[in-house]
Amino acid sequence: MDSEKFIISGGKRLEGSVEISGAKNSALSIMAASLLTKDECILRNVPHLTDVEIMSAVIRKLGVKVEWINNDTLCIDSDNFNNYEAPYELVKKMRASILVMGPLLARLKKAKISLPGGCAIGARPVDFHIKGFEALGAKVEVEKGYIEAEIHKLKGNDIYLDFPSLGATENIMMAAVLANGTSVLRNAAREPEIVALAEVLNQMGADVQGAGTSAITINGVASLKPVSVTIIPDRIETGTFMVAAALTGGNITLVGADPDHQGALIDKLRLTGAKITIAEKSLNVQGPDMIVSVDVKTQPYPGFPTDMQAQFMVLMSIANGTSLISETIFENRFIHVSELKRMGADIIISGNTAMVKGVSTLSGAPVMATDLRASASLILAGLVAEGQTVVNRVYHLDRGYQAIEKKFAGLGAVIKRVK
Ligand code: EPZ
Repeated sequence: MDSEKFIISGGKRLEGSVEISGAKNSALSIMAASLLTKDECILRNVPHLTDVEIMSAVIRKLGVKVEWINNDTLCIDSDNFNNYEAPYELVKKMRASILVMGPLLARLKKAKISLPGGCAIGARPVDFHIKGFEALGAKVEVEKGYIEAEIHKLKGNDIYLDFPSLGATENIMMAAVLANGTSVLRNAAREPEIVALAEVLNQMGADVQGAGTSAITINGVASLKPVSVTIIPDRIETGTFMVAAALTGGNITLVGADPDHQGALIDKLRLTGAKITIAEKSLNVQGPDMIVSVDVKTQPYPGFPTDMQAQFMVLMSIANGTSLISETIFENRFIHVSELKRMGADIIISGNTAMVKGVSTLSGAPVMATDLRASASLILAGLVAEGQTVVNRVYHLDRGYQAIEKKFAGLGAVIKRVK
């Protein structure tokens, strides 16, 4: 498993249509939200990803039943939700495990969670989560690598986030829905995953208003009921395939994508010369004959997503000109740059900005995947590079992309997974 790699022969125009899977980051937070009611929740359009399996393992550890009831549907039964500890062995595999903390405090009034470590892209602290729970009345201690929290009754409060953190907004919302009184979350994250989570919570009987704006009002209720929901399409998988079409001069239709989630990327891709046609529940992208260099700065949603920065950099590496790509969300999210330079890209980093000077072609090489989205950028580079590219440690990709090599092969790419 760990030795698996992708072998890619570049130079093929990608054409055809690809089915977009359910959104990893929305599935993870809605799996956690299922803990807020004691009966069975049904989650449809859940992607088969390592991160979903890890979140299932964390939730099972808490005494909750999680099982696949058909190809893409999870059933989560929190009737026996009785253990408040999420251990190091599991949390170290996936930082998003911390999303069970809000439901633990709301239902069991107690939580003991291993402090999620950093990861390849940054230190990834959780101070905003803790500040939010303390504002709701929790007593929180961090020692010996664990966060321990307990509370008598969550009390609504005004909470200001220093940064519109996606995870902190989700976690605090999931505690506040069962608090006494009203909470207002200011400078909240505005991602589609926040809107999707609020919709699920309201379907469960919560009263969450303003999701998608930077001020979310939550009127606490006494209890929540089970739901049956469908996970939204994955906007980053969608963006990855949109860039692949622009990169290879191809023509790809993204079936099941939600164009409303792609505003910033559509704008930037059109500026590179790509032709993008929008339909109700799909997008078509035609790559340009000549790629125009475009500057990008990652921002909180609805700005250009940090999770698309590495992929867009590959497009700029063979564009006709020079582009500046600034990463403002994470402190170490240029890990892909050294690997792209080994493939012939001309990139200079200065602080949080990469200056990308377009070259005529990249050349295939053996490269190493490091974090999820950087790994996707290495596949994209292999798709356009001359010759063969071998992407090692593809387990990083399996965390967030369902059968990515099969989807690319279905569009005409020459790519195969080998042990
Ligand atoms: C979510 O991570 C996503 N993960 C990330 O996707 C995504 O890159 C990120 O949001 C930004 O959009 C999931 O949803 C599971 P943040 P999250 O809290 O919630 C700092 C992927 O590829 N911060 O919005 O951890 C933090 O260090 C992954 O699917 C604090 O300082 O991101 C970062 O610099 C990668 N203290 C910034 O805020 C905190 O308490 C944004 O982080 C929390 C965050």
